[in-house]
Amino acid sequence: MRLFLDTADIEEIREINRWGVLSGVTTNPSLVAREGQDPDIVWKEILETVPGDISLETTATEADAMYEQGLELAQKAPNAVVKVPMTAEGLACGKRLVGDDIKINVTLVFSPAQAILAAEIGAYIVSPFLGRLDDVASDGMGMLRVITEIYEVQGYDTNVLAASLRSPMHVVESALAGADIATMPFDVFAKLVKHPLTDLGLERFLADWQTLQNDLKGEA
Ligand code: G3P
Repeated sequence: MRLFLDTADIEEIREINRWGVLSGVTTNPSLVAREGQDPDIVWKEILETVPGDISLETTATEADAMYEQGLELAQKAPNAVVKVPMTAEGLACGKRLVGDDIKINVTLVFSPAQAILAAEIGAYIVSPFLGRLDDVASDGMGMLRVITEIYEVQGYDTNVLAASLRSPMHVVESALAGADIATMPFDVFAKLVKHPLTDLGLERFLADWQTLQNDLKGEA
């Protein structure tokens, strides 16, 4: 399962990229707006920093306008993936972009039925939102499991990207469910690496090592 960051913050992206585990980035209009800068500058920096798939989202709501915007976004870099919403207009636009050999990510997916539609237009990525479904007392992980099973049974090529992840266990369970990609905010990524026994173990190793150094110095 590929690990993506769900952010438009370049410092967060640089930090996780430094770890060698970052395969891509997803952005959305809210995340880009949070940066308070010209979106073109924000996207350019991200596209140049991470060589993997970078999702850039359209904001037009009508298919023709969305298609024109999608063409522009796709031309920004070879690693740009155009995000379109799971609406009738988004599907019509997405189908045209796929016809132009442009990689698309169908976003705001909340049901297996919607995920089938995304696969049927030949989307490169489908993004089911787990956390937001949990927020309304539904089962986000259950939805993901059904989608991965349908895709397996039907032989769909579309990559399943588990989105709106809120905790390390969301990431672990997404991997177990067969997601191709998991995207998460910086704080969830940072929690993946942490374990108190790792910290304690390292502290003891270093203390024992220092004791040996002191003993050897004393003997000399
Ligand atoms: O970028 C899409 C998705 O991951 C948003 O997550 O936490 O705003 O529901 P969240």
